[in-house]
Amino acid sequence: MTLMAYNHVPVPAFMYGTAWKKQATRELVQLAVELGFKAIDTANQLIHYDEALVGEALHALAKKGIAREMLFLQTKFTPVSGQGGRSPYDASADLAAQVEQSFASSLSHLGTDYLDSYVLHAPYSRRGLSQADWEVWSAMEDLYRSGKTKMIGISNIAAGQLADLCERANVKPMMVQNRCFAALGWDMQVREICRAHGVIYQGFSLLTANGAVLADPEVRVIAEKLKASPAQVIFRFAMQIGTLPLTGTTDIQHMKDDLRAEQLTLSAEEIRKIETIAL
Ligand SMILES: NC(=O)c1ccc[n+]([C@@H]2O[C@H](COP(=O)([O-])OP(=O)(O)OC[C@H]3O[C@@H](n4cnc5c(N)ncnc54)[C@H](OP(=O)(O)O)[C@@H]3O)[C@@H](O)[C@H]2O)c1
Repeated sequence: MTLMAYNHVPVPAFMYGTAWKKQATRELVQLAVELGFKAIDTANQLIHYDEALVGEALHALAKKGIAREMLFLQTKFTPVSGQGGRSPYDASADLAAQVEQSFASSLSHLGTDYLDSYVLHAPYSRRGLSQADWEVWSAMEDLYRSGKTKMIGISNIAAGQLADLCERANVKPMMVQNRCFAALGWDMQVREICRAHGVIYQGFSLLTANGAVLADPEVRVIAEKLKASPAQVIFRFAMQIGTLPLTGTTDIQHMKDDLRAEQLTLSAEEIRKIETIAL
C-alpha cells in the first residue's frame, strides 16, 4: 500500500522510526527492512538518533540486494535549540547555510545522493511562524527545487502554523509528522488541513501517547474479533483514517505484528468509535 501527496511521489504506508536506538540502530534498521518495512525515518540530531548507523544498515542491506532506491528515506533538519549542544553543522552560520550543511551531512551519513523526504523537525516559534521559520523553509524549498529531496515536510506543528505555511509558502509541505493524541481526535485539526492540501500526515507515539486507548474495553473487543492485538488495531485504524503511522519497536515479534496490521480491516463503525474514543 502506498500514499501520495499532492506532488504524486508514492510513499509506503508504514514507517520505521529510528529514534533512541543508539548502538542498536544498525541492527534494528536492517532487521526492520528485511522483515518488510520500506520507509525509514531518522534525523540529523545526535541526542536522539544515529543517522550514520542508519547509513551503515543501508550499506549492509544494499550488499544483500536491497538497493537504496527500493527504500523511502526521510530525515530531518533539527534547529540548534534541539541539538543539545552537539550540532552537526556550524551553529553560528546563517540559517540557510545551517540547512545546507545539515542536509549535506545527512547525505554523507546515509550514503546517498538524494532523500525521499526532508523534514523541518519543529518550527522555531510555538505560535505563528517566525522570520527564522520562513528562512529555513525557503532553504528547504531550494533543496526540493534542486531535486535533492523528493518531498519536504514539517514536524511538531500546530494547526494554525500549518494553515499559514500551506497558504503562504512557495512550495507547500508534502509531509507533516506529529505526535498523535487520541484526546485531540488523533490530531483531527492538523489532519483536516493536511487532507485539504494533499499533505501526507504521519503520526508518531500512536501507542505511547495513548495508553488508555490500548486498554479500552471497546478496543479490546475489536482486537479480539480481528484476532489481533490492540496495538495492531491502532496502527490499522491510523492507516484507515489516512494517517501514515510510525513505529519505533525494538522487538522482532512486534515488527512482524506491526507490519501485519496492514492486512486487518476495521468497519466504518469501528473507525468512528476509535476516532472519537477519547473526545
Ligand atoms: N518528529 C519528532 O519530534 C518525533 C518524536 C518522536 C518520535 N518520532 C519518530 O517516530 C518514531 C516512533 O516513535 P514512537 O514514539 O511512535 O514510538 P516509540 O517510542 O519507539 O515506541 C514504540 C513503543 O511501542 C511499543 N510497540 C511497538 N509495536 C508494538 C506492538 N505490536 N505491541 C506492543 N508494543 C509495541 C514499543 O515497544 P517494543 O520496543 O518492546 O516493541 C515501544 O515501547 C521514532 O523512532 C521517530 O522516528 C519523531
